[in-house]
Amino acid sequence: MLGPVLLAAARSDTVRRLVSGAPVTRGVVARFVPGERLETALDAAAGLLADGLEVTFDHLGEDVTDVASALRSRDACLALVEALAGEDLGTRAEVSVKLSALGQALPGGHDLALRHVLPVVEAAAAAGTTVTLDMEDHTTTDSTLAILAELRERFPETGAAVQSYLFRTEKDCQTLAASGARVRLVKGAYREPASVAYQHRAEVDRAYVRCLRTLLAGEGYPMVATHDPRLVAVAQALAARLGRRPGSYEFQMLYGIRPVEQRRLAAEGHRMRVYLPYGTDWYGYFMRRLAERPANLAFFARSLAGR
Ligand code: FDA
Repeated sequence: MLGPVLLAAARSDTVRRLVSGAPVTRGVVARFVPGERLETALDAAAGLLADGLEVTFDHLGEDVTDVASALRSRDACLALVEALAGEDLGTRAEVSVKLSALGQALPGGHDLALRHVLPVVEAAAAAGTTVTLDMEDHTTTDSTLAILAELRERFPETGAAVQSYLFRTEKDCQTLAASGARVRLVKGAYREPASVAYQHRAEVDRAYVRCLRTLLAGEGYPMVATHDPRLVAVAQALAARLGRRPGSYEFQMLYGIRPVEQRRLAAEGHRMRVYLPYGTDWYGYFMRRLAERPANLAFFARSLAGR
């Protein structure tokens, strides 16, 4: 059970300093994070787009502790949208945002995050693309969904992720599906207590299927974000049964995970979007990827040992 230990380490500053400072770390991180600079991310995206995939960029950052850092995150998101505006890619390249990077956890954080994300959403709309709000730990869910609702009053194409491991999510899916929202369904990547979340893989997977059915039967645009081959197959079967046209929903996977499957789905005619993170603040994201799969940790440990 290394997952919980790694997820705790993902929020430890001491471990962050140790891991981020290790010289070999960068090579291992590159599997999941193509680079630290926007230009590198744009280059990686060009390769994916050329292969028929779509992308959602994530300027890495989370849990900022002061307003100046939140403003820097906002400016990085704006620089990204400005770069996309010049490329004329429409929604083939969109933007994912973590509200904790924009100050959500600071005092008055709800209003602050809304104030900081709004110009990003406005700029994205002007550039012909969309923004999707990532979902973080369960203490932020109400605030994130409330911000989504406010943003959607002016920008209805704004989307958000929801996590099938939370008990509340089936209900959230019903509300979001009825309102016609773009919803990215994920299993969930944080360490959550048994009071709010399923603790067993099979329960999380079953809840994922129930949410999937609600979203695919609803009015909105479901984004099926999983690498799980069984759930991809279930989504395809449900979409066919519910009469969903290709292009009225999409698949999403993370950069570096199951790249062959990503291209197979795109070649079959599915919209297939790759979540493309970049930036210097890769530690929390990287640790969650290690926690998802023990084999990743062995790979990382071998690199640290110089083999
Ligand atoms: P599962 O973990 O069961 O993996 C299925 C298979 O995929 C594994 O057997 C393995 O082959 C492969 N795989 C999965 N993870 C891997 C890894 N790290 N390394 C190598 N192989 C791996 N979470 C969250 O809480 N909030 C969010 O906003 C988001 N956003 C998000 C966007 C997108 C586009 C995706 C795809 C995922 C997220 N997530 C997320 C992460 C999500 O919650 C979840 O942790 C991961 O997607 C892993 O779960 P799977 O559904 O892939 O299943």
